[in-house]
Amino acid sequence: MSNFNKPKTIVANWKMNPVSFGEAESLIKTIKNGIQESDKTKIIICPPVVYLSKIKANSSFDLGIQNIFWEDEGAYTGEISAVIAKNLKIKYTIIGHSERRKYLNETDEMVNLKIQSALKNNISPILCIGETLKEKQEDQAIEVIVIQVEKALNNITKSQIINSEFQIAYEPIWAIGTGETPSINEIMSACLLIRKIVSNLYDRETAEKISILYGGSVNSKNAFDFVDKTGMDGLLIGGASLNGSEFARIVELFG
Ligand code: PGA
Repeated sequence: MSNFNKPKTIVANWKMNPVSFGEAESLIKTIKNGIQESDKTKIIICPPVVYLSKIKANSSFDLGIQNIFWEDEGAYTGEISAVIAKNLKIKYTIIGHSERRKYLNETDEMVNLKIQSALKNNISPILCIGETLKEKQEDQAIEVIVIQVEKALNNITKSQIINSEFQIAYEPIWAIGTGETPSINEIMSACLLIRKIVSNLYDRETAEKISILYGGSVNSKNAFDFVDKTGMDGLLIGGASLNGSEFARIVELFG
């Protein structure tokens, strides 16, 4: 089940950074200036939503948001729906990032509703999954990954997946922002496991269509092997995406 011919997807997850418009503008300019256009890579920038128009005005990168709510519209103070995102020409949304699961108590059921809403509105989900350090130490990582994927995909049809650019990002929580990373073998095993889960739920075609990304302490030194040696289709990058030249260096490794 190799995907060596697919362009590699590099997603920048800026999280709640940077703290001013000016910094967002200068970050996107540095990224843009450091990258040659190439059909071997696909770049998706996920800034805080308030910066979307600024990023759009300053670049032609595909844009994603970091979260959506599952209802289309209405009295849900502070939330942004897939419909709003669609009307802003946003093509992707991160769903179920571990920081939202941790700080905002997002459950697998909420993640599933968000995926349904995104797909209904032609927004491609970037579903985040991954185990905690405790779960890894207690040999529960596989079980956790299976449950997260199965629950997230509950009631999602094969054609919804095939007709979107569905992505699953394996982000072990203990590797996010810590400088710790899994071994190449562990990343390869996670990639195979996720494809196997999707294949069991649907079929091989669906498993091959889904892009699987790795995220967690990616930098320009480890990025290439994390994709090239593991079967992963790309990377979800947090910290290193806030340093424009470092992010551009990572993208250029695949260009
Ligand atoms: P990191 O974050 O690259 O800073 O580890 C990744 C993520 O949380 O998406």
